[in-house]
Amino acid sequence: MSQPVTLIPGDGIGPEVAGATVSVIRAAGVKLQWESYVAGGEALNRFGDTLPTELLDSIRKNKLALKGPVMTPVGAGFASSNVRLRKELDLYANLRPIKSLAGVPTRYENIDLIVVRENTEDLYSGLEHEVIPGVVESLKIITARASTRIARFAFEYARREGRKKVTAIHKANIMKLSDGLFLSCFREVARDYPNVEAEDMIVDNACMQLVMDPYQFDVLLLENLYGDIISDLGAGLVGGLGVVPGANIGDDIAVFEAVHGSAPNIAGRGIANPTALLQSGVLMLKHIGEREAADRIQAALEKVLAEGNIRTRDLGGQSTTSEFTEAVIHAL
Ligand code: NAI
Repeated sequence: MSQPVTLIPGDGIGPEVAGATVSVIRAAGVKLQWESYVAGGEALNRFGDTLPTELLDSIRKNKLALKGPVMTPVGAGFASSNVRLRKELDLYANLRPIKSLAGVPTRYENIDLIVVRENTEDLYSGLEHEVIPGVVESLKIITARASTRIARFAFEYARREGRKKVTAIHKANIMKLSDGLFLSCFREVARDYPNVEAEDMIVDNACMQLVMDPYQFDVLLLENLYGDIISDLGAGLVGGLGVVPGANIGDDIAVFEAVHGSAPNIAGRGIANPTALLQSGVLMLKHIGEREAADRIQAALEKVLAEGNIRTRDLGGQSTTSEFTEAVIHAL
């Protein structure tokens, strides 16, 4: 029987990269039954909610989703459906592997980092209010429960995948209570993992260190906002937003999506790089035990990138999304 998967093609370049990913997975011979739903602005217009109940029910039933980027208006308008989805389904861990790909031009070679980002709280609680005109408060929520479980997730991941070190990144020198709590939970959990080195670093220094010497890091553990920023910095180390995959993981549900957004500046032109969502699809296939197909897709993707004749514009080439996708399918 084929595995049902909820598909959210998303906005902007979302449908272009989602279409590419679905075709490659199909060409690899994996039988998935895609259940497609809209989210965000389009869902709000059509169904009165950015995350319709049918969509959430589908993910809860399938426990698995592949998601394209969904646009969030800046400064006003509806709240991010991406943030809401993670909270509604309690997808507390955001996992972003930052790995060099042969053939993708970058400043560094052989980068292999894992960003683990807390996904449910921090300044993304969306609790903002105007105290008096001209004065606004935005609440940063940090709890021992969420900090402890994300730290445990990072150490469990490190132990399972043979990683040597977890670095917690924070600003506990200034936010002594909130980041202080995150850090003390990290240190507490670290005691249970004597074989994994635990260190911590202040976030501004961590940014500089990542640019100067990324090889000193292994697994990075961050609160929601720092994790959002550092994952884009990490993407820049390995070729940009067009190549980095991600997963939002809860106790029994996982939603796989690229790190990038809807890229309105290139949407509808057929030139987006599908690599990030395709690699998210590879993570998804591994998650459901389709390791052989996942490895074949990854190898085909890396072959096309390494050969370098067919590459999208973000990587310095001229190929379209569909030419690139066809090349990956051919390499399969
Ligand atoms: P963005 O990631 O959409 O674009 C940043 C830059 O990277 C642009 O120059 C874009 O052309 C390029 N880029 C991104 N993905 C690419 C790809 N696959 N191939 C080639 N080039 C690519 O970030 P931006 O502009 O800050 O956000 C646009 C919208 O996306 C916003 O509404 C934002 O809220 C939303 N967004 C959604 C996310 C999600 O659904 N998880 C994540 C990040 C942003």
